[in-house]
Amino acid sequence: MLKTNGVKIKGVGRYAPEIVATNDDYAKIVETNDEWITQRTGIKTRHISNGEPTYYLGAMAAKEAIANAGISAEEIGLILASTCTPDYYTPSTACLVQRELGVSGCPAIDINCACSGFVYAVDMAKRYLAEGDIKYVLVVAAEELSKFVDYTDRSTCILFGDAAAAVVLEKEEDTLFASYTAADGMGAPYLVARALLTTNPFRQTESEFDMNMPEPNKHFLLQDGKEVYKFATKALPKAVEEACKKADISPEELDAIIPHQANIRIIETAAKHLKVPMDKMVLNISDYGNTSSASIPGAFYDGVNSGRIKRGDKVCFVGFGGGLTYGAVVIEY
Ligand code: UT7
Repeated sequence: MLKTNGVKIKGVGRYAPEIVATNDDYAKIVETNDEWITQRTGIKTRHISNGEPTYYLGAMAAKEAIANAGISAEEIGLILASTCTPDYYTPSTACLVQRELGVSGCPAIDINCACSGFVYAVDMAKRYLAEGDIKYVLVVAAEELSKFVDYTDRSTCILFGDAAAAVVLEKEEDTLFASYTAADGMGAPYLVARALLTTNPFRQTESEFDMNMPEPNKHFLLQDGKEVYKFATKALPKAVEEACKKADISPEELDAIIPHQANIRIIETAAKHLKVPMDKMVLNISDYGNTSSASIPGAFYDGVNSGRIKRGDKVCFVGFGGGLTYGAVVIEY
């Protein structure tokens, strides 16, 4: 096991909207049923926004993480907000979280790496902290997939929920830390949610420049479930193996793996590939569904609060999703 300069997780927080939608609730709006959803995905319920914006979920999670870290918001030296479902193009979600925290001054940056966003953000935080001029980084992952889910498309709407989770990170020397991040833009068309189209008064053509992208279907999320599934079952174990290799540790030596909670079958397939028992996987997919980049820190939060994850544990965060992006971080809690 390689000891290096890494990060310590000082505090963790989470927030989910109060509305809970069950599989039976979805059966009332699309042709589906509890048995299909449970068997094919492992999902039973998800939390859905009652109108609270993404930044609000993020700010609530951030406040808990800061309190849990035992510091004040003024001490945060950098805010990294991971979201692919922001409320505005500008200002960034990070700036809006900062505003809700009632502080100003520190830089605030949004990261859009879809469901891998938390892993990318922790990797970036570690690099910022290594410079030595920032004491604490707040990483907040906030997502409201309900904003762009097509509630007439049964193959996607049953998967997604809304939530946020946050961690406060501090530099730590001589500790376990390794990260691996990757992307494959060739897979971009497999998971798409469109932003605004170019409709300026000077435009001379109506033809679209988006080569090989799905037809625009307003702003809805479009997913080729089978292609993403195939990608995910390879990307998840590969990212864990690559991060473990860098940390000079085997996946079996990890105390917990916290995977992106997209589909229980993807996680089961990855566990077999990695030759680790399912009880190494920290799961909360049945209660929250897929909350994109908020899913890993959300499951981590549950793992910490249930006592499943303890101080000193060797844990691996592993994400995969739109982009296509994937990555893993091995860390000592
Ligand atoms: O976070 C980003 C990463 N995203 C993911 O990791 C998602 C990866 N993909 C998946 O998890 C799976 O592909 C899905 C859960 C999206 C779909 O599961 P599947 O086992 O691949 O189902 P399928 O698409 O092969 O569909 C099988 C059948 C189809 O019916 P026919 O054509 O066999 O008659 C679908 O129309 O199931 C049907 N179906 C449903 N039936 C009941 C699709 N959605 C539903 C539904 N309820 N909600």
